[in-house]
Amino acid sequence: MNLRISSFDEYKTAYEKSTHEPEAFWEEIADTFTWQTKWKNTLSWEFNTPNVKWFEGGKLNITENLLDRHLPERADQVAFHWEPNNPNEAGKQITYGELHEEVCKLSNGLKELGVGKGDRVCIYMPMVIESVVVILACARIGAIHSIVFAGFSSQALADRINDAEAKLVLTADGLNRGGKKVDLKTMVDEAISKCPSVQHVVVLDCINSNPTLNEKDIWYHELISNQSEFCIAEEMDSEDLLFILYTSGSTGKPKGVVHTCGGYMVYTAYSFQNVFQYQEGDVFWCTADIGWITGHSYIVYGPLLSGATSVIFEGIPTFPDPGRFWQVCEKYKVNQFYTAPTAIRSLMGAGLEYVQPYDLSKLKVIGSVGEPINEEAWQWYYKNIGNEKCPVVDTWWQTETGGIMISGLGDLSPMNPTHAGYPLPGIQPVLLDNEGNEIGDNEVEGYLCMKFPWPSILRTTYGDHERCKNVYFSNYDGYYFTGDGAKRDKNGMYRIIGRVDDVINVSGHRFGTAEIEDAINTNEYAIESAVVGYPHDIKGQGIYAFVVVDGGLKDDDEAIIESISVSVSQMIGKIAKPDKIQLVSGLPKTRSGKIMRRILRKIAEGERTNFGDTSTLLDPSVVEEIIDRAL
Ligand code: WTA
Repeated sequence: MNLRISSFDEYKTAYEKSTHEPEAFWEEIADTFTWQTKWKNTLSWEFNTPNVKWFEGGKLNITENLLDRHLPERADQVAFHWEPNNPNEAGKQITYGELHEEVCKLSNGLKELGVGKGDRVCIYMPMVIESVVVILACARIGAIHSIVFAGFSSQALADRINDAEAKLVLTADGLNRGGKKVDLKTMVDEAISKCPSVQHVVVLDCINSNPTLNEKDIWYHELISNQSEFCIAEEMDSEDLLFILYTSGSTGKPKGVVHTCGGYMVYTAYSFQNVFQYQEGDVFWCTADIGWITGHSYIVYGPLLSGATSVIFEGIPTFPDPGRFWQVCEKYKVNQFYTAPTAIRSLMGAGLEYVQPYDLSKLKVIGSVGEPINEEAWQWYYKNIGNEKCPVVDTWWQTETGGIMISGLGDLSPMNPTHAGYPLPGIQPVLLDNEGNEIGDNEVEGYLCMKFPWPSILRTTYGDHERCKNVYFSNYDGYYFTGDGAKRDKNGMYRIIGRVDDVINVSGHRFGTAEIEDAINTNEYAIESAVVGYPHDIKGQGIYAFVVVDGGLKDDDEAIIESISVSVSQMIGKIAKPDKIQLVSGLPKTRSGKIMRRILRKIAEGERTNFGDTSTLLDPSVVEEIIDRAL
């Protein structure tokens, strides 16, 4: 079970082996897991279709690997310490033995509701232990989970339920977030009124709000009350679907990234143990929400597969004050802490008086994920949280990659602030130029692509394989394209620059500009819109929307702006609300009718004079008007 590399030399040897004999390399790692039937073919792949299969013919259930397998040694070991939103309320903990029982009970309950292998189940839940139980119960019976972050609107939830044709929704009456309670049940009621595929809704009583249950609803506690504590794990093929997770791209609606059982299991466990250098007895804490890939891979699957003890936190970094993260680190003697740059930047702004009262001496590794970490935030994190003794692992990866791809491995690797560093064993990044040629040298910049599959690469986008091909495998023949630009320094370390497509990364959350524009365009006043990202001190990127309104500009702009903002909240969620909305009478377009986003991006970034070549613009006066009123 120990997959940990323990020196940089060992890393180099592992890396060499993983590129020269990739199959032998991954076979050795996969062999440490429990397979009901051993696989026949380690890897078959080609990127054009694309068609990637790992451990073909192998039969397994991931929950046997993260629960049953550990029971002989770890039945009484804590799997999760749960810390509530409100520090004055009592926390909870659950051992591996208890988690196993709870998962089995719910698995039996789900079966009773007629859910089985291959059915899609949507999860819209808070950060509580039961959410992990729910995820694992799906995996145990072979149902495919699709978790939707509980900050998305009912419309966004309905879109995702419908795309996956989910049979069941698991939710809670509500959740606690900072000083607020959020009603989830009403959101789900609204959503499922548009979702014919949903047969049942299982509701966890989380905030005691006493909602009325409808015909399709059943309480979680009632569903599990008389269930057996044993449930045989469904036999799954290595390439059977484990989950779908929706994520935004440059065009259209969010797409359902698909991960499969065997490869995802192998890679999340391997990357977890190596990047965080997790050792027996350590306490790990990832602050992400289970609704994002980081929560899937590094709250649920990676740590549990490794037999780790983790913290799961219901609240937010600034409630009741900006010392909350550090207080929780002290309370549970956290050894590895993993968060996002946006959180670091906001806590940095609050001042050291919120850090100093707490004992952070147990920390060994501190991590960052979700967006590029700027030098100032890196230094603050390293100095004040890591006390200049903990390596900062700047982990670059994506929903589509399933696990961490480029990162330091604990304190083994050399560190360079703002550089994610070297690829993990098994990962073969390349930088491509505009023509799609690999740039071989160091000290260069290009499009970040992968030239060889790793076990947890996405297999398809749910229900639309062509889209998967077009988005990821068609830009550069024979490569997986990440959508990111990157630099390689003279030592071969990677520094991620950011997205080169129309994806904006707001507080580590991905949104497609087209998706936000579509939401704006549903507003009664909006005729057309263009959304771009701009640098934001805390969020990394902010959302700037230029909106053409019916009847031109008026005096009651404020009311219109507010109404546009509400439309975005309704269609996507509050997390996607534009930071700036500028009403305009027209957008800069080329003669062929294409919006010149380059100009809008510059305006959003604060540029007022220098726009390069604008001779192809249909009506240059539009730009002047936008600049005059720019926010
Ligand atoms: C960005 C999150 C720089 C990147 C795990 C990527 C990063 C997108 C880093 C994926 C990092 C993630 N440094 N940029 N360490 N980590 N990104 O799918 O642009 O939510 O393509 O996965 O976040 O976001 P996603």
